[in-house]
Amino acid sequence: MGDGGTERYVRQAVPVDPDSDAQAAETVRQLRALATPEGAAALTRAAALLDAGADPVAGLTRLRAEVGADLAGPAWGIARQRLKARTTFGSDADRLLFTSDTLEQAGRPELAARRAARLLAGGADSVADLGCASGTDTIALARAGARVLAVDVDPVARELTALNVEALGVADDVWVVAGDAVELVAAARGGEVAGCGAAVLDPARRAGGHRRLDPDRWSPPWSTVAALLEKVPTSVVKVAPGLDHDRVPAGVEAEWVSVGGSIVEALLWGPAVATTWRRAALVRNGVVHELTADADPGHAATGPVRGWLHEPDPALIRSGLMSLVAADLGATLVDGTIAYLSSDGPADSPWVSSYRVDEVLPFNLKKLRALLRARGVGRVVVKKRGSPIEPEQLARQLRTDARGTATVVVTRVAGAPTVLVCDVTA
Ligand SMILES: C[S@@+](CC[C@H](N)C(=O)[O-])C[C@H]1O[C@@H](n2cnc3c(N)ncnc32)[C@H](O)[C@@H]1O
Repeated sequence: MGDGGTERYVRQAVPVDPDSDAQAAETVRQLRALATPEGAAALTRAAALLDAGADPVAGLTRLRAEVGADLAGPAWGIARQRLKARTTFGSDADRLLFTSDTLEQAGRPELAARRAARLLAGGADSVADLGCASGTDTIALARAGARVLAVDVDPVARELTALNVEALGVADDVWVVAGDAVELVAAARGGEVAGCGAAVLDPARRAGGHRRLDPDRWSPPWSTVAALLEKVPTSVVKVAPGLDHDRVPAGVEAEWVSVGGSIVEALLWGPAVATTWRRAALVRNGVVHELTADADPGHAATGPVRGWLHEPDPALIRSGLMSLVAADLGATLVDGTIAYLSSDGPADSPWVSSYRVDEVLPFNLKKLRALLRARGVGRVVVKKRGSPIEPEQLARQLRTDARGTATVVVTRVAGAPTVLVCDVTA
């Protein structure tokens, strides 16, 4: 790495597309204009108009009149992204610059900090962030004490990262460079990539507004992911939560992380950082719960529906560790292909949400309606697994004036379409 400061655009190993190059050059020009004192004033004014609830047409017209047409459009666009970013990035959001694409790609800062701390725990002090986008991983790594080489093929990403590390006061520890991660990883030697002893790789998994499910079509592709994990043992790669377990190389730890019941990231940890086979992590009220296994624990046993139904957290399901929690709860799967567990009692576990089972019946709309009527239930929440029904539509179909409520679970039990009516209140 260099000896200080932000070094921009030292390499340009990127295929040329004149149209998108011109568009990127214009965006870079606009971002630089926003970094001037006049640009900062335009951003502050745009934020004030948005905070005051100005509608887009009136707000932008007024902003144009006040700061000029050249600054108004970009300032309005960035201020809108900052507004969206506030729930995730807190007060940093008002200092960061995002385009809509880079905000969508940015991970949660608290998880980026958790990842950075773990990656650096073994003593690495320089990290290559291969695909820095707007620099949210770069910032987390620099804040955790590393010197960071932030690499991207996209000039807009590089400009955003350079301005964002400056805005958050970590620019002295960050070098922003143009480069192709495929080439850099191919050239990696001696456990290092681009002269760094550790690496973060977060491949772009969307193109043209669509998810690219096939890892070979990510950018950089799977071959670069696998090569990095093999050549640079102190590394972490963000992958799609649906990644096939068979892809995970031997000696690499795979981790799935959920927040608020949704998977927010899946990670592959290189052999020098890996400490287990699979890890599930769940964040609830700021507390991280973790579950690990050093080898495949196998499937949970199946059994009948009993007094309680348990819906496992998705990170637990994806990590393949459900049988550990099932054993802990004395629970069994209601169907070998469906991730619902059942046991005799409620569960005191962060890994499942529990429902008291009041009725079990074969799936039949008429019979279900009659049963709900008989029990005085007029409003239901519908959950489903392994069924083609539309939950909102079924909830509407079951709605009546009766005061009682229930959770209706539509699933398969031992292969048969079944309804479980749970948590009935009269
Ligand atoms: C998913 S984003 C990274 C998000 C970032 N980690 C964050 O937290 O904000 C992927 C980035 O990789 C960049 N990229 C894609 N292919 C690349 C390649 N071959 N070399 C370098 N960067 C690449 C894209 O331009 C994009 O900015």
